[in-house]
Amino acid sequence: MQQFKRHLITAALPYANGSVHIGHLAGVYVPADIYCRYLRMKGEDVLFVCGSDEHGVPITFKAKDLGCSPQEIVDKYHAIIKDSFNRFGISFNIYSRTSSEIHHQTAGEFFKKMYEEGKFIERESEQFYDPVAEVFLADRYIMGTCPKCGNESAYGDQCEKCGSTLSPEELINPHSRMSGEAPVKKMTKHWYLPLDKDENWLKEWILENHKEWKTNVYGQCKSWLDGGLRPRAVTRDLDWGVPVPLEDAKGKVLYVWFDAPIGYISNTKELLPNDWEKWWKSSDTRLIHFIGKDNIVFHCIVFPSMLKNYGDGYILPENVPANEFLNLEGDKISTSRNWAIWLEEYLKDFEGQQDVLRYVLCANAPETKDNDFTWKDFQARNNSELVAIYGNFVNRALVLTHKYFDGKVPAFRQEQLTPMDKEFIASIPQITKEVEDNLSHFKFRDAIKEAMNLARLGNKYLTDTEPWKVYKTDPERVAVILNLSLQLCANLAIAFEPFCPFSSKKLEYMLGLIENKNNEVCPTSSASGKIAWENLGRVDMMETGATLNTPELLFAKIEDDAINAQTERLARIKKENEEKAMQEAAANAKAEPLKGECTFEEFEKMDIRTATVLEAVAVPKTDKLLKLTIDTGIDKRTIVSGIAQYYTPEEMVGKQICILANLKPRVIRGIESKGMILMAKEPGGKMRFITPAEVVSNGAQVG
Ligand code: MF3
Ligand code: ZN
Repeated sequence: MQQFKRHLITAALPYANGSVHIGHLAGVYVPADIYCRYLRMKGEDVLFVCGSDEHGVPITFKAKDLGCSPQEIVDKYHAIIKDSFNRFGISFNIYSRTSSEIHHQTAGEFFKKMYEEGKFIERESEQFYDPVAEVFLADRYIMGTCPKCGNESAYGDQCEKCGSTLSPEELINPHSRMSGEAPVKKMTKHWYLPLDKDENWLKEWILENHKEWKTNVYGQCKSWLDGGLRPRAVTRDLDWGVPVPLEDAKGKVLYVWFDAPIGYISNTKELLPNDWEKWWKSSDTRLIHFIGKDNIVFHCIVFPSMLKNYGDGYILPENVPANEFLNLEGDKISTSRNWAIWLEEYLKDFEGQQDVLRYVLCANAPETKDNDFTWKDFQARNNSELVAIYGNFVNRALVLTHKYFDGKVPAFRQEQLTPMDKEFIASIPQITKEVEDNLSHFKFRDAIKEAMNLARLGNKYLTDTEPWKVYKTDPERVAVILNLSLQLCANLAIAFEPFCPFSSKKLEYMLGLIENKNNEVCPTSSASGKIAWENLGRVDMMETGATLNTPELLFAKIEDDAINAQTERLARIKKENEEKAMQEAAANAKAEPLKGECTFEEFEKMDIRTATVLEAVAVPKTDKLLKLTIDTGIDKRTIVSGIAQYYTPEEMVGKQICILANLKPRVIRGIESKGMILMAKEPGGKMRFITPAEVVSNGAQVG
């Protein structure tokens, strides 16, 4: 890292059409923030740049759906996102936005210079056009019937029902989402970035010179490059975005993926109007992009090609540590299905517990493969790691020092050190070195694990030395133990600071390492004094005789109630989604085709009759089955039925139903089931039982 004078760290600009969720945090913002904090603590010159990505088609949709302007949408979400990042302790030097004046200017100028220097190719092509609204239509603006599954509200690029990728040409009855009219084809001109011309240097730059990039990133780049690059359109016919700064480009804007990465530059300019260039145009600046896996091609291929073609000394990224995706309780996070944990809501529900989420998302980060977040794991990691290991060790060290030494760091002499103490002292820098090595290689999961191992070391030391027992007979021995334990506390405060800055600040104050209890948790410049990273591994940071402040618990146990409230919320959402899907399916689905002919004799074989449900209970360890006791008029019997998704046991008791009484008995989950309940089954899957129009006697024949 020696050759670099400064580090320009960017985090992907989130779209301002929704709030930020744990997937964004685990993939991009938590690792980026950890890395920036780590570099600052090392005294490096760091600029951490981010902002809202406020253009693109989905924002215009959301606006249309809500009947407001795109600007109103982005104003709303920009404010929410910016505020929640700040409260979560993401230490951006700037968080700005792409609808700003300075961004429009910068992005427009970027395009213009490239255009004037002949870096683009112009192409005319036929595009879909809404003759009534008089606008060109992005694929998403066209709807119609899916040719594969018959879903009547498929989009021009995808059917969300069956998941097929589509093109607008394939839709049956295509119509514009703007006017409802059938789209027509019309010629339009666009500008393309001829990526194919850059293939050679991109191959050499990435495949030869950046073999150290994460394998997921390198692999994706390789497959793009091996597949051959094609020119990409950098303009769109749309009225929301940065206008194309050319005379003959009315109604055209820059493609969102052209303007958004330039946002990194505009935002730097906004923060440092006179000094921004050294961050972008000096070979001694190290540029790192933190992103999610869906952004790899844009940051590793398209944006570098833009920067190189623009010229003027722009540097290329040194590394692009992209993460994979985080799932939630086994399912893909989805904004449209509200299957997410929103940062804003977390901050409300778990006030003051930012570090818990930061810890869990880092310890469980999807660094090399997709990973799953569960509330159970969240609770376990808090209660049995943060509370039981880190918090517990710190608390014991501080409380015992207050108890035995009046809250002052006790003195000792070197000759007093036992082999066990010496081993303890030697282990500290060994572990902190692991934290450091992992951090510097973007291995944040391993780094945080080692930080926790440091606390484990402390707990083991206290358990082995038992100062509470020794004090009566040998207070001098206890002075050694507690002095060394406090030295470890200081190491913990530093080692955890990149990951869990809120509790580190608290701990540093309790240790008297910082003076102000409300010390800024979002530093934007390098650390100095005791909290510097270079002090990590030292066992003399706590000076003999120094006074500690009153100890407070670093972490609080999270009770089942809090977790249950969250899992119940998710269960509700899941149920709503299932109901919605069923309704949609029912609305879309056609009735099943007619079955083959059956004779009256065949029908007569079936003994169908009325019966009343006497008792109903759920079959243990299944979520589909109910065990029903029914009165058939001729006997009382048991039927096991797969209706638990549609009816609760309470809802069934007392109901009159129809059954197929002479169905051959079957054993289901160890229960003999005699007969079958007749159900009307909707194409979407929903089932309702059949009941006579008026109550009749049990055992009445149906036919
Ligand atoms: N808004 C994009 C997304 O959420 C990321 C844009 S990153 C930038 O996927 F490079 F364009 F800024
Ligand atoms: Zn479909």
